[in-house]
Amino acid sequence: MGSLLVDDIGELVTNVAGTGDGSPLGLRRDAAVLIEDGRVAWVGPARYAPAADRRVDARGGAVLPGFVDSHAHLVFAGDRAAEFAARMAGEPYTGGGIRTTVGATRAASDGQLRATVRRLVGEALRQGTTTIETKSGYGLTVAEEARSLRIAAEVTAETTFLGAHVVPAEYAGRPDDYVGLVCGPMLAAAAPYARWVDVFCERGAFDADHARAILTVGQAAGLGVRLHANQLGPGPGVQLGVELGAASVDHCTHLSDADVDALAGSATVATLLPGAEFSTRSPYPDARRLLDAGVTVALATDCNPGSSYTSSMPFCVALAVREMRMTPAEAVWAATAGGARALRRDDVGVLRPGARADLIVLDAPSHLHLAYRPGVPLIRQVLHNGVPQCRS
Ligand code: NIG
Ligand code: FE
Repeated sequence: MGSLLVDDIGELVTNVAGTGDGSPLGLRRDAAVLIEDGRVAWVGPARYAPAADRRVDARGGAVLPGFVDSHAHLVFAGDRAAEFAARMAGEPYTGGGIRTTVGATRAASDGQLRATVRRLVGEALRQGTTTIETKSGYGLTVAEEARSLRIAAEVTAETTFLGAHVVPAEYAGRPDDYVGLVCGPMLAAAAPYARWVDVFCERGAFDADHARAILTVGQAAGLGVRLHANQLGPGPGVQLGVELGAASVDHCTHLSDADVDALAGSATVATLLPGAEFSTRSPYPDARRLLDAGVTVALATDCNPGSSYTSSMPFCVALAVREMRMTPAEAVWAATAGGARALRRDDVGVLRPGARADLIVLDAPSHLHLAYRPGVPLIRQVLHNGVPQCRS
């Protein structure tokens, strides 16, 4: 592969503390990055840059770690554009449309599901996402959940078993029976393809007892815990996640003081998904309250056909700054290093020797432009595992 030097960088976001820039981004000026064998080999002042076989000229643009999108639901068929239009005309979001997507997903071929996953991963990559998590949860039978995860595992190591998304129609009125299926044969079929286990812990989906049962057996099967919690209303999800040592509790839209305290005293990340509030016209989570309490915050897209059909991390950064009172630096950190924390990864979301050479070059001189220029395609170039992906 040879070595590759990225230089003429306007501003380098390393996410390595200690550069004295006063932000969490570890900003460096006049820096260059050397890449070898898909990893960052050296970061330092451009004037001391080692010789390299090839060069990427950032042309004064900012260079950041690739985005780490730690929450997405990419294995599905069909869309719910009409449901979105109805919401924009005043209908509330209840999560009830999940069953519509379950029907379409079950009816789809492997090839159709694979094409959708690959299309969305490609779409995300062009917008700077170099690590993406994706969940099952639109199959909801033993065979369908295993199929979804098998297809997801073809494109990412960050796969999550979400058999407990909703109780499917054929188990209506028998949630205990469905939870038994999830904990037994479904988990057994899914676990070989999954790194994580997740539950939609919400009124109308799964209560705390069901969620605890599923997450505990998932943990025993070797999966890490993450959780959809406190999205549509207050509830037990956040504290349950902290109690079980979840890597992340996601949504966190409706939090009590006790929820915030529990998060602040824990290693559990609060992953905020502002695309969901945007697309369901709901109040945004209070990121400022979490940050001020010392909670680690991540941003992710929640890309799915119902509540948030965006694959754009720059869009989420802009929403977080404008609507959730995060500073641009906090939002960029949350979309890169925060996502890595939410996935318990130390090789992504950061640019230091040994890290994966996942970098984005902006068509703008600093990270501020991601929020300052919303909706503008600022990702000029993406390097994934040290390989340039696209150029415009
Ligand atoms: O994260 N909340 C549950 N699951 C998804 C929505 C899925 C859907 O509406 O299809 C979410 O928002
Ligand atoms: Fe989700």
